[in-house]
Amino acid sequence: MVSASAPGKIILFGEHAVVYGRPGIAVPVSQVRATARVEATPPGSGLTLLALDLERSVHLRAATMTDPLAAIAFLTLAHLEADEPDALLTVTSTIPIAGGLGSGAAVSTAVARGLAAFLGCDLAPAEVSRLVYEVEKLHHGTPSGIDNTVVAYEQPVYFVRDRRMETFTPGAPFRFLIADSGLPSATGAVVAAVRAAWQAEPARYERLFDQVGALTDAARQALEAGDVRSLGPLMDRNQALLEEMGVSAPLLDRLVAAAREAGALGAKLSGAGRGGNVIALVEEATAAAVEAGLADAGARRVISTTVG
Ligand code: MEV
Repeated sequence: MVSASAPGKIILFGEHAVVYGRPGIAVPVSQVRATARVEATPPGSGLTLLALDLERSVHLRAATMTDPLAAIAFLTLAHLEADEPDALLTVTSTIPIAGGLGSGAAVSTAVARGLAAFLGCDLAPAEVSRLVYEVEKLHHGTPSGIDNTVVAYEQPVYFVRDRRMETFTPGAPFRFLIADSGLPSATGAVVAAVRAAWQAEPARYERLFDQVGALTDAARQALEAGDVRSLGPLMDRNQALLEEMGVSAPLLDRLVAAAREAGALGAKLSGAGRGGNVIALVEEATAAAVEAGLADAGARRVISTTVG
């Protein structure tokens, strides 16, 4: 039996604008993970993919590329020029589904790595990222590629579409609380809604994306300089622009306000929005109060992650 895993992620800056060529910053969240375990089955049985959390089982022989689990298996086997193995691949995940934490990209990454390991191959992060991007394209329409990149590399990334991705090292530890709103965030649908709004008002949306891009560049400098105090206001300004884009939601606004009132240095939604999670930058002294404020305002679950 072999196993492989992949982390969740949060977008710190630049969601949506990153789809339109502006920079985005994302970091892995390693304490929530998708894991694939693969064991041999009798000869002739073929490959079965079992997603326990989704209560789904897929026999590759009977599946098509329209199924995301089958798609990543087909793509991985084609990439490795390997025949379908006789095996059972079981995926489990502690990443909330449709929670803005990249569960889809993490599940695909774990499946690709698990399958490759079972076949005695090792996939480099760039290879996994490319395969997972193909699946993201099938199911999210026009993904930027930031999710598959941060999940496959499991490092902080500064990402510009169609350019070589860059990793970077924060100059000090930055602690974020991640508050799950409990509302689903359907990435494909929200990305499509932003596209429709951009088509209706291209000049206004291009201006918003430019402003987000400038904030993302300033944020990278603050992160690299270890300047925790400058990063918070940049998050607040990014949230205001996301609200103008129409991707926030009343509950997300309430969570953001509650985090700031309780002493967070800055707060914003993270990921596609309309649901999913809110992230808040905290210091040691205020972390407990911000966590309590988020819970009182309706967060289902709050997890803490430190970057750098
Ligand atoms: C989703 O995690 C981030 C978005 O910018 C979509 C994308 O980049 O593909 C909303």
